[in-house]
Amino acid sequence: MGAINAVTGLSVEDGIAIVTINYPPVNALSHAVREGIVNGLQQAIADAAVKAVVLICDGRTFMAGADITEFGKPPKAPWLPEVIEAIENSNKPVIAAIHGTALGGGLEVALGCHYRVAVPAAKCGLPEVHLGLLPGAGGTQRLPRIVGPEKALEMVTSGAHVDAKTSHAAGLIDELVPEGQLRAGAIAYAKKVVAENRPLKKVRDLNDKVEAARSKPEIFADFRKANARKFRGFLAPEYNIRCIEAAVNLPFDEGIKTERKLFQELMGGVQSAAQRYVFFAERQVWKVPDIGDDVQTLPIAKVGVIGAGTMGGGIAMNFANAGIPVTIVETKQEALDRGLGVIRKNYETTAKRGKLKPEDVEKRVGLLTGTLELEKLADCDLIIEAVFENMAVKKEVFGKLDKIAKPGAILASNTSYLDVNEIASATTRPEWVIGLHFFSPANVMRLLEVVRGEKTSKQVVATSMQLAKKIGKIAVLVGVCHGFVGNRMLAARQSQAQAMLVEGAMPWDVDKPLYEFGMPMGPFAMGDLAGLDIGWSKETSTSSTVREVLCELDRRGQKTGAGFYDYDEQRNAKPSPVTEKIVKEFAAKAGVTPRQISEQEILERSLYPMINEGAKILEEKIALRPSDIDIVWINGYGWPVYRGGPMFYADTVGLANVVAKLKEYAPKLGADFTISPLLEQLAAAGKRFQDLK
Ligand code: 3HC
Ligand code: NAI
Repeated sequence: MGAINAVTGLSVEDGIAIVTINYPPVNALSHAVREGIVNGLQQAIADAAVKAVVLICDGRTFMAGADITEFGKPPKAPWLPEVIEAIENSNKPVIAAIHGTALGGGLEVALGCHYRVAVPAAKCGLPEVHLGLLPGAGGTQRLPRIVGPEKALEMVTSGAHVDAKTSHAAGLIDELVPEGQLRAGAIAYAKKVVAENRPLKKVRDLNDKVEAARSKPEIFADFRKANARKFRGFLAPEYNIRCIEAAVNLPFDEGIKTERKLFQELMGGVQSAAQRYVFFAERQVWKVPDIGDDVQTLPIAKVGVIGAGTMGGGIAMNFANAGIPVTIVETKQEALDRGLGVIRKNYETTAKRGKLKPEDVEKRVGLLTGTLELEKLADCDLIIEAVFENMAVKKEVFGKLDKIAKPGAILASNTSYLDVNEIASATTRPEWVIGLHFFSPANVMRLLEVVRGEKTSKQVVATSMQLAKKIGKIAVLVGVCHGFVGNRMLAARQSQAQAMLVEGAMPWDVDKPLYEFGMPMGPFAMGDLAGLDIGWSKETSTSSTVREVLCELDRRGQKTGAGFYDYDEQRNAKPSPVTEKIVKEFAAKAGVTPRQISEQEILERSLYPMINEGAKILEEKIALRPSDIDIVWINGYGWPVYRGGPMFYADTVGLANVVAKLKEYAPKLGADFTISPLLEQLAAAGKRFQDLK
């Protein structure tokens, strides 16, 4: 094979030119790849012996898209649309040979080819929406011309990877070739195209499907309506829809202009910057500087969970879902039965929704064994404690575990706030102890805070991170402090929410700007959902907070039909006169004249103290990097991904602005409020959290 450039090879077999891209790890369409394709194609066209061209990739995948690392840098010719135009205008048929994933710009290149063949394991998709973008190299104009506008809308707004069989049925793939025989299959297909003198099929010229939709604007209206909740706050889905609309209503070249304009708008905007940042942050989070590949991970074949309450049950489900047997320990048969019953019910609900096969319900439940004897955990490789949040109880459990667990077993606590070092001190093997902080509901939420104790061994950390991946979580490594990263920052927000109640804001006044900012709900709605009685008891209640008084009135949140809000049968919330009265009484008792607090103040006082706490977390090295904090907030608390997490958001506001506001609000932020020196230093130097290396 001759070399076109460092990443592209060209060979000719029986009149078929094969242009091969080799740019690990994912053959992203970097400048060299784009240049390689164009030059390879030109040579093939110039060679009279060549009758058709196959475009194929080495390594694990077909091109997985534009090279995201080049975004934001000055574009270098040939740029992607030119590459695709060159392919489409070739006077010899070009056939894309797809394996792995043809994504984004990669699929757009394939759509520029005259024909596409793929192996059955291949997948196609336009995932740009996840980067806050739209397919910017003709994808929004070509895709609906093949699969029709409805399917195209679904693909561009979901970013889903569509399997080869479905792609074939939709006309996106012309022929499936046997697994492992892509090259030979593609060459054979190319020969067939030549032998049958098939036309140079240009997707841009296929108009019947878009024309058929021209008189049906309801396609778009209905789609927008059906997805309004899902797309709330995001720009990219709407822009993608507009492009498909343009494909339907405008000639191809006009549609391309619309696509380009909207693409550039998104690319220059803060949402896409945030989502691209998150793409890399999600990959960086797994990298632990002092733990290299030389640290061997331990096999985890059997797991123990202590406590079958809210968390224990959900935690156990994660492992059963991954095919790992779990032994669950409780203190009383009744609690055990209840816990196991909830798990079964959860699986059955999933099955009823068609998301799990009935036989899988039994398979998963069959992997769970309940017991009242801690001794039954003797052969577990990992034991996760999820008992009451009480240090004495946890230490007692770990003391017992120390005597029961086999050597080499990982002993983990799901504590939300407690000192993992102190828990570890109850054992003779603190290097085997770690925090694995799942979020509720533990079988659903993606986040896992992996809490590294002072003495936790590297092997235990590495195994925990690897295991998190296996059970489909995103793990963030954090250090020991009260509440770790997520709950510690949450506490800063909660204390402001409480303070603003006393100053004159109602719970719904506080919740509104946070919801509009993009959070799934504000702090008071969240309290109602979780239950206001967590950690509350009638016997010890002292009527000293609004929450306590609400609980005393049996307004314990959504589950009792009332909390901060009143709820109807469908659990729709509405402001409550009862709560309003209580809040006003508290303000009067505190001698405060209620004032109207602006939405801007509510937002800033909710978010900036959190950012300040995040900076302290970095100073104390509780988190490895600002982007790890952002991953915690996006995946554990529903921070809108298009705002990139609290630390990224602070960068967009400007750290000097954050500091100035914190100083302005300081008298209201509580007696023990202090500004993080790190935040002040960065602000003074005109730097961002992202500049911290
Ligand atoms: N550009 C640059 N680097 C990329 C990349 C891309 N498009 N896609 C992946 N990478 C990098 C990752 O950052 C990672 O780097 P690291 O090893 O240094 O952390 C490495 O490739 C491997 O990626 P993953 O860890 O994600 O590997 P997986 O095997 O788990 O997944 C994948 C492979 C499914 C291809 C996944 O990487 C992926 O989804 N990539 C992004 C695809 C995408 O969004 N494409 C659209 C790009 S935008 C576009 O094309 C615009 C156009 O329309 C104009
Ligand atoms: P829960 O009260 O629902 O469940 C605790 C269970 O542990 C009870 O069923 C109890 O019978 C059992 N238990 C108590 N002592 C035991 C022992 N010695 N041996 C065996 N079982 C015992 O509590 P929840 O909410 O599940 O919390 C458990 C832990 O998870 C706590 O540390 C909590 O802070 C933490 N957590 C809770 C979250 C939540 O949202 N509920 C989120 C993340 C962590």
